Amino acid sequence: MKILFAASEAYPLVKTGGLGDVIYSLPRALQKEGAEVRVILPAYRLVLEQMSQLHIAGWLQVQGAGRMHDVRILETSDRHLGVPLLLVDAPALFDRPGNPYLHPDGYNWHDNAERFTVFSRAVARLSGNADLLEWKPDVVHCHDWQTGLVPALVSLEAEPPASIYTIHNLSYAGVFSHEEFERLDLPREWWSTHLMEFFGNFSMLKAGIIFADHITTVSPTYAEEIQTPGFGYGFDGVLRAMKHKLTGILNGIDQEVWNPATDSYLPYHYSLKHHYMAGKRKNKEALLRQSGLEPSEQDLDTPLAGFIGRLVEQKGIDLLLDALPALMDKHDLRLVVLGSGEHHFENALRELAALYPERVLVTLGYSEELAHRIEAASDLFVMPSRFEPCGLNQLYSLRYGTPPVVHAVGGLADTVVDATPENIEAGRATGFVFDHPSPEALTGALERALELYRQPNTWRRLVRTAMSQDFGWTHSARQYMELYERVSAVRA
Ligand code: ADP
Ligand code: GLC
Repeated sequence: MKILFAASEAYPLVKTGGLGDVIYSLPRALQKEGAEVRVILPAYRLVLEQMSQLHIAGWLQVQGAGRMHDVRILETSDRHLGVPLLLVDAPALFDRPGNPYLHPDGYNWHDNAERFTVFSRAVARLSGNADLLEWKPDVVHCHDWQTGLVPALVSLEAEPPASIYTIHNLSYAGVFSHEEFERLDLPREWWSTHLMEFFGNFSMLKAGIIFADHITTVSPTYAEEIQTPGFGYGFDGVLRAMKHKLTGILNGIDQEVWNPATDSYLPYHYSLKHHYMAGKRKNKEALLRQSGLEPSEQDLDTPLAGFIGRLVEQKGIDLLLDALPALMDKHDLRLVVLGSGEHHFENALRELAALYPERVLVTLGYSEELAHRIEAASDLFVMPSRFEPCGLNQLYSLRYGTPPVVHAVGGLADTVVDATPENIEAGRATGFVFDHPSPEALTGALERALELYRQPNTWRRLVRTAMSQDFGWTHSARQYMELYERVSAVRA
């Protein structure tokens, strides 16, 4: 089974969120199941800078917005991903500073429609014939709006492979104007409400939904939620119509990258077998020192709550900001935050840190190392997301013995078991779950957590159960393998 993974980011080369983690970890898991996987990414400047061995596999002429691009297809024998990597090199579009989607000043690149159409056209050509790579996939597996056009574009190829389209986040829909559609020279007949048109514009995500042989999303609960108006972002109707080809498959995590027993970012290692409570406490001490504190024993007894994430409404950071002052005034609690995103959230966090010095510790920016240290050092992890397709941080938290406090949506509902008295008694509880996205409900869940934290035996049991969960990829990778077999058999 030959699979081409097309996406806009992949850890450790270029990552803005969980998509990057999945494009690193799922191909490796599929490889273990016997698949032959290659990953294809745009040749961003940042990615090229990390390559030491590159060679040109060939050239393609690709239509952009009112102009043609001479595109180089690069292959590398660097093993950053653990599977072969291909790059679509169109310097006018990708040789830039900043992140994959944004100018360094924080706004969307003005030509994102052209950038990801050119990328998608190149992917479709390489998937639809073996001339250039002497390799042709049985399935092209595309991810998020940036590759939404691929299933449509491969349908124009002489020998199209089967296509799978995975929705990681419906709120980023790749919506562009009619004028853009014309400049990109996409087939006229695709401009139809049955195909790509979306409320007077067109959506690359909708193209993926309509044209793919099968659609997946990243948790069973999110697969149901997106068929309702509250979570559908305008796509609920089309998703209901397509539900015969929609499956929710839960994301896994890479258990080597995220392993508290070996994690090279951690000052102290620990595991279920070795000193997990003491190990976490030492990591807490190190993190507080790193933040400029001289922690006393009492400081180490104070529960530390962690938050890591993109500072956008999805993540419910506003709920946390609203709930915090009263919580901080009432309880002995410390909070550590790592994130970047919308300026008003960044400013509000700065203000909170100034209001509660030494108790609210905020780092604005992106740091893989600090993210690992926070997972290990925290006693609790806060994830009050309004919606969460899967969420990886709660899974990392479970593995690091940091019970997550989550809103019961999407993948959070599928992976965290609330610490009710019955669930604790039955040895099932792994965290704290609340039902309504409100500061009050979040406060209630955090207060339940703080109360249990003061009962060391129960708390230890909760931590143990959390750390014993297995959210590795094996099960989900097998579900993808079955799906690949099914869709490629229909194609053949
Ligand atoms: P999403 O993909 O919606 O951002 P996930 O929970 O699936 O949410 O994945 C987020 C990933 O990005 C995790 O690996 C998390 O550690 C990482 N991450 C998010 N923000 C930061 C940050 N500021 N610094 C380091 N890592 C971050
Ligand atoms: C998205 C979602 C997140 C998910 C990640 C990887 O960015 O917001 O919930 O875990 O993709 O699938």
